[in-house]
Amino acid sequence: MMYPNLGSLLGLGALFRLASASFEGNLNYQSPSARSSHVNLGLSLPFITSRTLKRSSVAYQPSELNFTHGVASGDPYPNSVILWTRVAPTAESDRSNVTVAGTVELYSHETEKYVKADANPICIEWKIWELQKGHNGTVKGPLGRSGKAYTTSDIDFTVKVEAHGLKPWTLYNYQFNVCGSNNSSPVGKTKTAPAENDEVDEVKLAVFSCSNHAKGFFNVYGNAARKDKHDYVVHLGDYIYEDASSGPRAHKPANKLFTLYDYRTRHGQYRTDNDLQLLAQNYAWIPTWDDHEFANNGYRDGFSALNNTEASFRNEGPSISVDTRKINAVRAYFEWMPIRQVDLDDNLRIWRNFKLGKLLDLIIIDTRNYDRSITSTGNNDAYIEAIRDDPSRTLMEGRQEKWFFRQLSESKQRAATWRVVGNQIVFSRILDSKGELTGTDNWSVSVSSSYRTSTGETLPAPQAILLAPYVSRHVKYRVLAVNFYVFDVW
Ligand SMILES: *[C@@H]1O[C@H](CO)[C@@H](O)[C@H](O)[C@H]1NC(C)=O
Ligand SMILES: *[C@@H]1O[C@H](CO)[C@@H](O)[C@H](O)[C@H]1NC(C)=O
Ligand SMILES: *[C@@H]1O[C@H](CO)[C@@H](O)[C@H](O)[C@H]1NC(C)=O
Ligand SMILES: *[C@@H]1O[C@H](CO)[C@@H](O)[C@H](O)[C@H]1NC(C)=O
Ligand SMILES: *[C@@H]1O[C@H](CO)[C@@H](O)[C@H](O)[C@H]1NC(C)=O
Ligand SMILES: *[C@@H]1O[C@H](CO)[C@@H](O)[C@H](O)[C@H]1NC(C)=O
Repeated sequence: MMYPNLGSLLGLGALFRLASASFEGNLNYQSPSARSSHVNLGLSLPFITSRTLKRSSVAYQPSELNFTHGVASGDPYPNSVILWTRVAPTAESDRSNVTVAGTVELYSHETEKYVKADANPICIEWKIWELQKGHNGTVKGPLGRSGKAYTTSDIDFTVKVEAHGLKPWTLYNYQFNVCGSNNSSPVGKTKTAPAENDEVDEVKLAVFSCSNHAKGFFNVYGNAARKDKHDYVVHLGDYIYEDASSGPRAHKPANKLFTLYDYRTRHGQYRTDNDLQLLAQNYAWIPTWDDHEFANNGYRDGFSALNNTEASFRNEGPSISVDTRKINAVRAYFEWMPIRQVDLDDNLRIWRNFKLGKLLDLIIIDTRNYDRSITSTGNNDAYIEAIRDDPSRTLMEGRQEKWFFRQLSESKQRAATWRVVGNQIVFSRILDSKGELTGTDNWSVSVSSSYRTSTGETLPAPQAILLAPYVSRHVKYRVLAVNFYVFDVW
């Protein structure tokens, strides 16, 4: 038949308007880049929308769908928070493991070209409501906000929405359901940030890093969730590992990560862990990545086991270049983590700031992947030693470093009591039990970055630089109003 009948035309028209509005509500459709500014990097919403209108597309029944990986929230602002879930016809990630040969665009989001995309949009509704203090514990308060969003295989069936219009420093519950059904996610709990000028006495952070699924159980996640003594979770990176470890908690997929499918599957595996799910469900997370969200010892142009040369791409893994591997890792990370992408035009940027009342500024930086100068790759130690003092060396690169110093200055100007930096590698000198310097990944590989950051004479220096399991002490570090719960996960 050539033309659909009038009834289905009307139906399609309604779907079109609904779908095109709601695709935008799922932030992952703009990740890792906004299509408007990066034609080759962003997803094309008009393309996805028109694909979903094909008459062969049959919507899933709510009973065919599951919330496969729990719920999560993160990046609290005074009036909004990010809510996350995944709803899908399968727990498996989208199998975009196709590798490309010859000359191609740096990266393409046209998954249709590389993998058969699933044309059926899945509709979800979300709602968030206040948790109020009752006579006996907390009781259900008024509905805050609610909304609707769509997801598809293009973004691995993930859902990331921003709940706006919330009250500062307030506990909320939130939940997702498949549109028009009682197929619902678990109920999550989260908390907005205090307003910038609020006088808060105490903010409790549970700090984590280095959580390797294959190396042990995530008891510390479970303990923190069950103790319920903190406001926010800060994860300083190595939230996943890219290796191919075996054993009872063997990594999935069973290979080292290179493709988009690889990174998505690994994130998915970590989110099947019950303790991780519980901590994600009940607290707003503020994470940053270290090296293993990409690959060991990364820097601007490579990793310890992947040089930025064709010979290296051909010998290591499925012939994927450094840039493509990075963008695969970034895209899966933003799809699977409940965080904001503060600059859509800069998909490698994770550095961002949280003003938690007058008490503290939590400044999250990236000393690994954002244009870092060459690092130790296992075969260049003498070279790194020789160039350690080179003033052009950098851990953060000029743009991030300027931003970082500006955050410190502005924090001082607004008289925040604390300037706390979330960072990946050892900042201060740590002596082991024999009195010898310890900590291999440290700021001394770039003496100039370290010097610029610690010269309190010209800049207001940070008072605490977080690195679990070490809380590095610096300048006038005092354990006063900020409680750190520091865990090393394995
Ligand atoms: C959805 O969850 C149910 C109940 O746990 C399970 O039986 C079913 O296999 C799941 N379906 C999918 C597609 O994951
Ligand atoms: C993934 O890639 C491998 C190697 O190229 C291939 O053998 C396999 O069939 C692919 N899997 C899917 C589901 O596309
Ligand atoms: C208060 O809450 C606890 C735990 O939820 C429950 O066991 C107890 O019965 C409640 N008490 C009253 C008076 O409702
Ligand atoms: C959801 O559950 C309620 C209560 O059991 C029931 O009244 C309602 O019809 C259900 N809604 C749908 C769409 O199945
Ligand atoms: C990277 O280059 C170094 C120096 O040329 C070489 O020793 C190393 O084997 C290379 N690594 C890979 C993974 O190609
Ligand atoms: C930094 O790491 C190197 C190894 O790369 C080590 O030799 C050095 O002692 C460490 N320095 C500090 C200050 O921890």
